[in-house]
Amino acid sequence: MLSLTIPRVALRSAAAPRQFAAAASSASVRYASTKTLHDAVAEIVPAKREQFAELKSNYSESSLGEVKVANLIGGMRGLKCMLWEGSVLDAESGITFHGRSIPESQKELPTAADIGRTGAEILPESMLWLLLTGKAPTNEEVKQLSEQLAHAGKLPSYLEKIIDSFPKTLHPMTQFSSAVAALNHDSKFAEAYSRGMKKTEFWQPTLEDSLDLIAKLPAIASRIFYNVFGKGDGKQAIDTSKDLIENFTHQIGYGDSEGLIDYLRLYIAIHGDHEGGNVSAHATHLVGSALSDPYLSYAAGLNGLAGPLHGLANQEVLGWTLELQREVGKSPSDKEVQDYLWKTLKSGRVVPGYGHAVLRQPDPRFTALSKFCETRPELREDPIVQLVQRLSQLAPPVLKEHGKTKNPFPNVDAASGCVLYSYGLDQFKFYTVIFGISRAIGALPQLVFDRMLGLPIERPKSLSMEALKKIVAK
Ligand SMILES: CC(C)(COP(=O)(O)OP(=O)(O)OC[C@H]1O[C@@H](n2cnc3c(N)ncnc32)[C@H](O)[C@@H]1OP(=O)(O)O)[C@@H](O)C(=O)NCCC(=O)NCCS
Repeated sequence: MLSLTIPRVALRSAAAPRQFAAAASSASVRYASTKTLHDAVAEIVPAKREQFAELKSNYSESSLGEVKVANLIGGMRGLKCMLWEGSVLDAESGITFHGRSIPESQKELPTAADIGRTGAEILPESMLWLLLTGKAPTNEEVKQLSEQLAHAGKLPSYLEKIIDSFPKTLHPMTQFSSAVAALNHDSKFAEAYSRGMKKTEFWQPTLEDSLDLIAKLPAIASRIFYNVFGKGDGKQAIDTSKDLIENFTHQIGYGDSEGLIDYLRLYIAIHGDHEGGNVSAHATHLVGSALSDPYLSYAAGLNGLAGPLHGLANQEVLGWTLELQREVGKSPSDKEVQDYLWKTLKSGRVVPGYGHAVLRQPDPRFTALSKFCETRPELREDPIVQLVQRLSQLAPPVLKEHGKTKNPFPNVDAASGCVLYSYGLDQFKFYTVIFGISRAIGALPQLVFDRMLGLPIERPKSLSMEALKKIVAK
């Protein structure tokens, strides 16, 4: 049984050392009686450390299953070998964030309307608070966090120059990860580490850097958007009375689209965390395990997100769906859609937006985005959104008959990019950048947990085929 007594040493190490407490509050907005996110995280440190110590001392030798050759040569599917606090993905029921499903999170977490703005969807700031603390924030706490992020959102001029020097032809994701990596110039973690910080304090400048990065991602993304596509305000202006996504949407020139603003809030909130094994989350965690600072760690995650089997899929789905429309028209028959699905499969391509490495049911994130579409007349009547919904009915039987994929159902990417397109955001190459703004609110909190718990550098054992054969053919 887990004891609730908090060891003195853990309590001592949870308190913010002076330099971090001061730094955290200088960048922050603090209402007299409202807890900051930094305070809320500090509160959970003792219990988290105690839970970890109990697991380590009582269960270190317990088995979580055997490792088969299939795991080693099959992308480590199903191996339980990572600690990840923010969310757990169940193959049948999908994602839960500290135990809450998406519909439960939608009920519990503050929305834009709850902090005096217009909009009914979860604020990404609320999801960030939940992922970092395991608790739903109050409206005041989210409002304060939102303002704190807005105050930290402006880019340093050296970074603006770096971004402006990228060729327009460089993929926006490459620009994005390069710009994020460059921010390590200002890392509080790297600075404190070089000064000789105690291991028990690592989580604090990690949290500071993480919040700083999350605050700046929209401005980095919109500066890239402006440079590549020529759209947006060109200055990344921040209004501290607006929330993160409202500011972002203004920065990219879509600030008058109330539907897109609320869609992006939902999109960013529910794309944030999908447990730890996916490429972007895992890459952030892996690089972070070498104590690289949050900027360098998350840049690695973004490079993974840029792959077509991961974050680039929403861009691929849209391209594929438009191709389908071009080939068979805007109101195709069921038979025409099915034939097109078979044509894709027979040409050796995957049907983008379908299948998942863990899920074996329709992705609840797809369901949440579909429900959003149902509430919006402008989306309900859009041919591309209608086609997405029809595909979600027509593709699974075809994929089942094809017989390869373990999961014939739609994943989140089946809808996400098409809705952006429907709102007029038709710069495909930018879609994964938007995903990249989101994934930070899941991957960076785990970096804080990693350092709070003092997790070691990751170093799994690899084997050559020859060495493997020697072991299994004994
Ligand atoms: C997500 C994805 C990479 C998971 O891969 P996975 O864990 O290897 O999936 P499975 O175990 O079901 O794959 C078994 C086989 O089915 C194939 N398959 C999986 N999804 C498929 C799809 N949507 N269309 C056609 N074939 C598919 C795989 O390519 C694999 O074929 P192979 O044995 O010839 O290599 C895969 O489903 C995919 O490529 N989907 C399309 C891209 C996409 O939507 N990505 C976003 C994910 S959120």
